[in-house]
Amino acid sequence: MIPDPPGTWTLGDRTVNRIGFGAMRLPQHGRAFDPGAVPRDRGQAIAVLRRAVELGVNHIDTAAFYFSRLRSANELINRALAPYPDDLVIATKVGPSRDPSGAWQPLAAPEQLRGQVEENLRQLGRDHLDVVNLRVSGLDSIAAHFGVLAGLREAGLIRHLGISNARPAHLAQAQAIAPVVCVQNAYGLGYRPEQDAFLDRCGEQGIAFVPFFAIAGAGREAGAGGDEHDEVLAIARAHDASPVRVRLAWALRRGPHVLVIPGTGSAGHLEDNVAAGALRLTPDELARLDAVHSRRR
Ligand SMILES: NC(=O)c1ccc[n+]([C@@H]2O[C@H](COP(=O)([O-])OP(=O)(O)OC[C@H]3O[C@@H](n4cnc5c(N)ncnc54)[C@H](OP(=O)(O)O)[C@@H]3O)[C@@H](O)[C@H]2O)c1
Repeated sequence: MIPDPPGTWTLGDRTVNRIGFGAMRLPQHGRAFDPGAVPRDRGQAIAVLRRAVELGVNHIDTAAFYFSRLRSANELINRALAPYPDDLVIATKVGPSRDPSGAWQPLAAPEQLRGQVEENLRQLGRDHLDVVNLRVSGLDSIAAHFGVLAGLREAGLIRHLGISNARPAHLAQAQAIAPVVCVQNAYGLGYRPEQDAFLDRCGEQGIAFVPFFAIAGAGREAGAGGDEHDEVLAIARAHDASPVRVRLAWALRRGPHVLVIPGTGSAGHLEDNVAAGALRLTPDELARLDAVHSRRR
């Protein structure tokens, strides 16, 4: 089970454990969105999702555009977990899309967002979406897009709104329209430390900061597997833990509003990631990891 610390956070009116799960890795082996990627065995993906919930994960991140030739993250979530536990919060994102062959499409126009929300509702088999993030992707002003999502929230199709790949100016624009419960941006130990101030600012405002690529870092869609920093390796050895656990534990220590969503298609890795909640970094270790983080500034 997820150990008591790192505890919970409340997204709007929905309380979630701070260690969640990202579904992007489920539809395929290897690099996400690679047209040649081998689809993952359906039974394996379903088993990982069910094990995640057994371990206490109740915050799952997904998107309709997370699919490989034969698997869709939303379909797998539906198949594995419906009827959904009452405490499960599924967060999805809209804005980008891929056509049925997998080719990326231009960012949705505001009037296309309702269709994207409905696509997620159909695939997940739900009547409402717990959290919808607008993935900003190159927009300077998000007012028109966010306004449409705020309308869908008013209409009851969406409970809570967030933004992703966003800058502080986007947050201000969105908050002028409707409440924002989370910001989902790429961030991790030694990866995009320029996000530090934004992360802190979200905490000051009671907004969750949900880092993606907290393990993969600069590996991004290709995943983890690059050389690990000596300091991370040394601290991992001292705790008899994996370096990934150290990375997740560090991210969780960045603030009580930080919710991690590590992605994996492996049950063993899932258990390892959940165990990050029990890893207690000492003040000295935190300082050493902070130094690693800032040195890459
Ligand atoms: N808003 C956005 O624009 C956006 C963009 C990207 C992702 N996301 C979301 O964020 C989630 C997290 O991102 P992510 O999945 O790309 O990256 P991640 O969680 O940082 O790392 C995933 C990579 O690490 C590996 N891994 C996971 N646990 C491991 C462990 N315990 N030991 C060793 N390797 C491990 C995975 O491979 P294995 O499968 O082999 O474990 C995969 O290669 C995604 O699943 C998705 O839901 C959002």
